[in-house]
Amino acid sequence: MKDTEVAVQPGSVESDPSVHIEVSKNGPYIVKGVIPLHVQTIVANAEGKSWTYQQGREFAVKDGTALCRCGHSKNKPYCDGSHVHAGVDLTETATFAPMLDGAQEIDGPHYSLTDNEAYCAFARFCDNGRQIWNEVQMHGEQHEKLSVYMAQHCPAGRLLIWDRGTGAPVEEPLPVSLSLLEDPGEHVSGPLVLRGGIRVQSADGDSYEIRNRQALCRCGASSNKPFCDGSHASIGFRDGL
Ligand code: FES
Repeated sequence: MKDTEVAVQPGSVESDPSVHIEVSKNGPYIVKGVIPLHVQTIVANAEGKSWTYQQGREFAVKDGTALCRCGHSKNKPYCDGSHVHAGVDLTETATFAPMLDGAQEIDGPHYSLTDNEAYCAFARFCDNGRQIWNEVQMHGEQHEKLSVYMAQHCPAGRLLIWDRGTGAPVEEPLPVSLSLLEDPGEHVSGPLVLRGGIRVQSADGDSYEIRNRQALCRCGASSNKPFCDGSHASIGFRDGL
């Protein structure tokens, strides 16, 4: 690791530093330390909108486990070396700048919303009610609670809610975990979701901002690698799990 100090997003807490993810050059994610890994399926509500997660099958992870990020492994979620011949460009293109640098801010009566669309994992929790961008500007406890709920369920951390009174993010540090997101509403598989302030180290040794909620591309198609940008939906990525 080259960094002397790694940025931590407000509201996030870095996990045990021995636990982190290393992005290998044109290759898989390497898990450092032992982190629980499960399938996690988006569950829709009666309106057909993404509402909660259902935890599924567990996969074994040990220190040094390699996880596929090109989308071509025949042994997902693990790497089987397919990236060598898959012809997928896995070059990291994301910025190391804090996510808030590129975020738009929308102010409501009680809360503010910050939104950096480049990190959208297309999980659609933000579409409930009249959508989070409108809900946060509406008066009333019902709209405030729904705004917080939707932001906190955004797997990628694209959306953050801030208390305008205290200036602090409304964010609870999450237990450390890895999830393989499945999206039956779109009939696709999604990113590798990291929760709990897991540091992500690029192939050149620098680390990205540490955040409570992050989504890493595992389909190989993102334009914001190593992060998911929702492209898995447009290419119809299926992991077969
Ligand atoms: S998994 Fe979402 S863009 Fe690749």
